[in-house]
Order: sequence, then structure tokens, then C-alpha cells
Amino acid sequence: MRLPDEHSIERLTRKDAEALSSLEAECFSTCFSPEQYAVILDAGENAPLRAFGLFGPDGGGKSLVAYVSFALHPAAGEVEIYNIATRAGHRRRGCAEELLKLVLSAAAALNLKKALLEVRSGNAPALALYKALGFTLTGRRKGYYAQSGEDALLLERALCGLCPERATSARFNPQPSTGNRMDAVSCANSHRTAKEV
Ligand SMILES: CC(C)(COP(=O)(O)OP(=O)(O)OC[C@H]1O[C@@H](n2cnc3c(N)ncnc32)[C@H](O)[C@@H]1OP(=O)(O)O)[C@@H](O)C(=O)NCCC(=O)NCCS
Repeated sequence: MRLPDEHSIERLTRKDAEALSSLEAECFSTCFSPEQYAVILDAGENAPLRAFGLFGPDGGGKSLVAYVSFALHPAAGEVEIYNIATRAGHRRRGCAEELLKLVLSAAAALNLKKALLEVRSGNAPALALYKALGFTLTGRRKGYYAQSGEDALLLERALCGLCPERATSARFNPQPSTGNRMDAVSCANSHRTAKEV
């Protein structure tokens, strides 16, 4: 089964701090606390880290199923993917792919040239995801992860040639209040399904 029809993708804000921290705790050995996320996600145009979340139906409402966090480095022309995760019961349905494609397209729409990330050498699902989305190996930090002894793999992909529909729908507000043009990557319409974004 692929992405649920009734899902939405939204830029995460302070109100999502608890849900994001909890999802992260489920998927990683270390995570930011809700209090830390409340600050990070509230940082507005100066946010060091931004996140998109994919919400799916949950009882009468919706809950966070997957997220991707990333940092924009406009001076370097780069977007850095910081973390991505999908709740265990929702994997292999295209959630991470959908979120990652949105970040890549939004970054391309901001005229950034390159996406970078780092991944554990033993993380086969993540490596398969990144490979499927066109990332290639550019470097290796030997034994970077002290506990497991795994290497850190550095991957990147160019942002040219992305689907123009996605790129234009990843909205960029040209004149945010402080004039910081790099603040406003956001989901085009947070209440549409991701297929429409
Ligand atoms: C890696 C992770 C984010 C993938 O999330 P997901 O929502 O299941 O991924 P998707 O369904 O979007 O997968 C897209 C494609 O990636 C590849 N892929 C993803 N998971 C895979 C797996 N377990 N085995 C092989 N290929 C995989 C496939 O090509 C897949 O396309 P397909 O299903 O049509 O074959 C998820 O496994 C996860 O949350 N892992 C724990 C957290 C983590 O390690 N994050 C990465 C940090 S660098």
C-alpha cells in the first residue's frame, strides 16, 4: 500500500514539538527533547533547522507519521538534510520519499544547487532511499560512529533537473518581514494531500 489518500504535509512549528520529539525517540538512539524542538521550530526566519511533517489519519484526527529536518545554507548554495524518519508501522509506503522530494524541490526553487547528507554505512534502508533519489557517495568518515564503529558516508546530489511542478509548488515568500529571503521554504498548501503538493 502506498501513501494514504488522506494525508497532508506541513511545515512543523512549535505546536508539533511533542509529536516530533516522540517520533524521533522511536526512530533514533538520540533525539531532541520537546522543549528543544519548541525552541528550534519557533525560530522563524532565523531557524537553524526546519522540518516538514507528513500527517496521516489517526482515529478522528491526524498524527505525525514521518518527518524530514533540514538546514538551508544559501551562501554555499546547499541544503543539508539533517534527519528523516518514518514511524515503523508506516514504512515502505513512500512517506520519506515524498518528504525528501519536497525538500529537494523547495531548495531548487530557492536556487540552491546541491543537497548534502550524512548516513551510517550500515543503514541499508536509508542508503536505498537516498540512492533511489539520486544521491551519490562523495566521502567517508572512517569509524565516525564510536559506538558501532560504523563509517559516516557523505552523500550529495545536484538540484538541477527537478520536476518543475514540485519546484514551483514549494512556496517561497519573496519578502518575509526581516528581508531574510531564505526563511520561507514551506509546503505549498498544507491542507492538500502530498500528491497535490
Ligand atoms: C529510512 C527510512 C526513513 C525510509 O522511510 P520510508 O518511508 O519507509 O521510505 P519510502 O517508503 O519513502 O521508501 C522509498 C524508497 O526507498 C527505498 N527503501 C526505503 N526503505 C527500504 C528498505 N527497508 N529496504 C530497501 N529499500 C528501501 C526503496 O527504494 C523505496 O521505494 P520502494 O518502496 O518503491 O521500493 C525509514 O526506514 C526510517 O525511518 N528508518 C529509521 C530512521 C533512519 O534511519 N533514518 C535515516 C537517517 S540517515
